[in-house]
Amino acid sequence: MSLYLDNNATTSLHPAVKEAIIEFLDSYGNPGSMHEAGRRVKDRLDSAREEIASFLGTTPTKIMFTSCASESNNTILKSLLLHDFGFKPHMITSAIEHPSIITTARYLEKNGVDVTYLPVTKDGIIEISALEKAITDRTVLVSIMHANNEIGTVQPIEEAAKLLTQKNIFFHSDMVQAPGKIIFNLDSMDIDAASFSAHKMHAPKGIGALYFKNSKAENFPFTPLIHGGHQENGLRAGTENTIGIIAWAAACRAIKADVQNEIDYIKNLRDSFENIIKESISDIVINGESAPRKPCTSNVSFKYVEGESILLRLDMEGIAVSTGSACSTGSLDPSHVIMALHNDPETAHGSIRFSFSRENSMEDVQATAAALKKTIDFLRSISPLTPKG
Ligand SMILES: Cc1ncc(COP(=O)(O)O)c(C=O)c1O
Repeated sequence: MSLYLDNNATTSLHPAVKEAIIEFLDSYGNPGSMHEAGRRVKDRLDSAREEIASFLGTTPTKIMFTSCASESNNTILKSLLLHDFGFKPHMITSAIEHPSIITTARYLEKNGVDVTYLPVTKDGIIEISALEKAITDRTVLVSIMHANNEIGTVQPIEEAAKLLTQKNIFFHSDMVQAPGKIIFNLDSMDIDAASFSAHKMHAPKGIGALYFKNSKAENFPFTPLIHGGHQENGLRAGTENTIGIIAWAAACRAIKADVQNEIDYIKNLRDSFENIIKESISDIVINGESAPRKPCTSNVSFKYVEGESILLRLDMEGIAVSTGSACSTGSLDPSHVIMALHNDPETAHGSIRFSFSRENSMEDVQATAAALKKTIDFLRSISPLTPKG
């Protein structure tokens, strides 16, 4: 059996993406070159940028390509905050952000920026009243993610955006987990910047984007993270990942055709999975269950057992799942996201993320639920934490 249920970590290439890559493979011109080979690729790049922008609900001039969303997140925070403001700048983010925001925020703290990490409710949602209270007259930037990568909860970013527009504070959102899973239109959201990554939506790794509306940023300068040539309007140097961009545009085209059906299909898989395990396995917590969640994600804490043991035993059965974010692999710390919800190391250590995609079927759901029950029964039978009798 080989079942892939780790689609929040990354996704397989869509067949239309594979075709687009093969078709483009011989187009090696540098889009910055003035000759015909370069101009041809530049034209393809321009159309791809337009398609990606349109999928995200914006216009091509607001899309800056990067190598990944981690770069987009680093770029926006460092480029806007590492300046001499004449006062100590303050940034607000949440306690459940991806490591590429949290560790950048910690780096900024060491470099003269005050950071507030907003707590979340036990369902994994920030409160707008807490955001409003955290704002000071030194707050220059707020970064709140859209859908959480570990538990899928969807933050009230449109409300946050409205509030921050009134207050004239720059608002960035890490929207990596949203495209294709949540329908949105960037330009109607009052967001100043947002990060995206192609490999979360059936396109290749190594290509990301930063949506950047150069409005409130007029109040303070933007320093590129990567200096060099004039690519991306001088905001991000480096020859563009042309194959990655062409492939990403193909993914947008393919997904756009059927996005609502795909969302309904995946949500049905996720909900069925949760209904089966709630019936068959005792002592579980579905993290973020009562909050709005992206449709593909189910994060479950199993009492008395370790997430790593569950992951390894499911892997032996050919089922790929994850504990926390792929970027935290190698760390023995409990998930900072589950800790932020429950402040309980046992619940955090026993959590597993199942993330579904268009490629999974109801048979996969049933097979996973059955393998999971067997695994949990076995691990609990040997766990010293399981209550006896
Ligand atoms: C919410 C979120 N932000 C940022 C990233 C980083 O994306 P990338 O792998 O493109 O650097 C991820 C990847 O897991 C993510 O889920």
